[in-house]
Amino acid sequence: TKKAFIFDLDGVIVDTAKYHYLAWQKIANELNIEFTHEHNELLKGVSRVRSLDIILELGKVTASQEDKNRWLVQKNEDYLSYLVDMDESEILPGVFPILKFLKENNQPIALGSASKNARPILEKTGLLSYFDAVVDGNDVTNAKPDPEVFLMAAKLLNATPENSIVFEDSVAGVQAANIGNMTSIGIGDASTLHEAKHIFKDFTAIDTHFIEELIKE
Ligand code: G6P
Ligand code: MG
Repeated sequence: TKKAFIFDLDGVIVDTAKYHYLAWQKIANELNIEFTHEHNELLKGVSRVRSLDIILELGKVTASQEDKNRWLVQKNEDYLSYLVDMDESEILPGVFPILKFLKENNQPIALGSASKNARPILEKTGLLSYFDAVVDGNDVTNAKPDPEVFLMAAKLLNATPENSIVFEDSVAGVQAANIGNMTSIGIGDASTLHEAKHIFKDFTAIDTHFIEELIKE
């Protein structure tokens, strides 16, 4: 059977989750909204627009659309400033060997990310050519936990959802994979990602034997 290996980007392939956090924290600070690491978990995998709404809800702040638009631009400019010097050194440990192993075994690979900055990040890190399909925040209308982004990626790779494997670091993303009937693999903290079918602390904990089994299943 034909498989599809679908990767989230932020926090899975590259360590950009910390930059998103810093940029949101800045906005939250300006608005005097308390924004902790636990709050930040709620924003992982979530679109930019929805993330701002969640932060405003946390602080019970109501704002005009004009203000919101300004903060969204500010957040993205700040975020992009962290990416200026990005190169392959920001690929998370263990990711590259797995991508290489999948390629050597002729397995289709897609990106399934909520980010509108996904393509430039793949280019900067030199990974774009590893992906047979890229589905990102510019392509979808429904944010994770809606499975739209992953369903679109599976379709582009000609695989059924049941034969699709999703690597995710966010709760919303794991839920999206599960709702889409895909095999969810959580990358990160086991207590946060307990809904995932398999959980690994990072890609160095995944061996090629495990991937071989996924290919065969
Ligand atoms: C990913 C990240 C989120 C981010 C979202 C939108 O899902 O995990 O933290 O808000 O993408 O990213 P963007 O680059 O479009 O602001
Ligand atoms: Mg992520």
